[in-house]
Amino acid sequence: MSNIEQTLSIIKPDAMERSLDGEIKLMFEKDGFKIAKEKKIQLAKHEAEQFYKVHETKPFYNDLCEYLSSGPIMVMILEKENAVLSNRKLMGATNPKDAEEGTIRKKFGISIDKNSVHGSDSVDNAKIEINFFFKN
Ligand code: CDP
Ligand code: MG
Repeated sequence: MSNIEQTLSIIKPDAMERSLDGEIKLMFEKDGFKIAKEKKIQLAKHEAEQFYKVHETKPFYNDLCEYLSSGPIMVMILEKENAVLSNRKLMGATNPKDAEEGTIRKKFGISIDKNSVHGSDSVDNAKIEINFFFKN
């Protein structure tokens, strides 16, 4: 049975600044994702804080929100069978050092904070995150 899902992906400032958005989108497409919607934006710090609210109590929260709002980002709705898990797999581990060969973070990530991409971690969070960026 088909289980087409949507997930939210963000190409983070470190990758945008190195003009890696084209290459990263190709990796999504080669892996069978359809980019249903996309937009290039820059968040205000308070918007990054709202987006990453689940991490509010973490020691890295402030730096993370500073960083996500530090430059342009590409926000995308990706569609595929089991998109949420499939995208997590293609992204690789949070720390690029631990990411497997062939993953986006292995290929492009610089460090645990500058790890080039965000991806929703569950179907429920994907809905919340898609709604955050693409309300209509
Ligand atoms: O992005 P992912 O879901 O893999 O990781 P997370 O645990 O949800 O953390 C969100 C983001 O916070 C990561 O992608 C990192 O950019 C950042 N982070 C960090 O700067 N330092 C850590 N020790 C953990 C996460
Ligand atoms: Mg996460």
